[in-house]
Amino acid sequence: MSDPATTEDRALDLFVHALKMCHGYDFSDYARASLKRRAEQLAADLGEPGIGHLIPRLIYEPSLLGDVIARLSVPVSDMFRDPEVFAVLRERVLPVLASYPRVNIWQAGCAQGEEVYSTAILAEEAGLLPRSRFYATDINDQALARASEGIFAARRVDGFATNYDRAGGRHDFADYYRSRYDLIRMRRTLRERVVFAHHNLVTDGVFAETHLIMCRNVLIYFSQALKERVLRLFADSLVRGGYLVLGTRETLQFSALAPYFEVVSEPHRIYRLKRERSIHRV
Ligand SMILES: C[S@@+](CC[C@H](N)C(=O)[O-])C[C@H]1O[C@@H](n2cnc3c(N)ncnc32)[C@H](O)[C@@H]1O
Repeated sequence: MSDPATTEDRALDLFVHALKMCHGYDFSDYARASLKRRAEQLAADLGEPGIGHLIPRLIYEPSLLGDVIARLSVPVSDMFRDPEVFAVLRERVLPVLASYPRVNIWQAGCAQGEEVYSTAILAEEAGLLPRSRFYATDINDQALARASEGIFAARRVDGFATNYDRAGGRHDFADYYRSRYDLIRMRRTLRERVVFAHHNLVTDGVFAETHLIMCRNVLIYFSQALKERVLRLFADSLVRGGYLVLGTRETLQFSALAPYFEVVSEPHRIYRLKRERSIHRV
């Protein structure tokens, strides 16, 4: 009798292959254990006894794709998540960005938009919102649709406000949204600065002339090889002197790209592309 763990591993390989062949999404370089857990959960949620049973559904039910991507992609986030990171951005990064006539900020893996609205609030408080353009991207179209509405459950507001205060917020967090019943909606002045777009870090290209890239808690789901590809993409997208912010469990330290960046704050995973070295020599 074959080992069920091995069977599920083979099923996962075939599932990943089917997803790529049928729909063009390539999860083959995602960290294996967490991808397997999410695929198992997806199978259970769809009433299937195992990952392999998802394969015919991927083939014959194309309408399932949105749900499949949504379930595989973990769109968990928070406003001012890790507030101390936003406090350092406020103190050390935004004042530098304020010296540019225009600022492009790329929020890669934006989930439902919590982080991009947080960064837009920082820009507002640094006086550079009208000169800023935010590009917030993700592979999860369901999350992107929610993000672009800027709507969140009102029960989350206390947590948002606490994080905002810890991040050195200069106003009342309530200044940035309107309440409607059990929902809040972020103010139009913030929403209209953000372009939400589908972009896959595995397969898609650069966003040129970016001054700040925030990509937090996304690389943890990738293999080492894929992390390197994505870091290279970021280096190619940044202007010289542009900033890169990773999640607190992600680092540039052991990457081949590390020599091209200076460390602004390692504990907060904030890096800056050096001005003097050409990235194309990597
Ligand atoms: C845990 S959330 C992180 C959200 C936010 N950056 C934060 O730190 O709170 C990870 C996000 O990465 C997105 N993601 C996963 N793979 C991706 C890819 N290949 N390209 C773009 N986004 C991806 C997921 O859809 C998800 O919304």
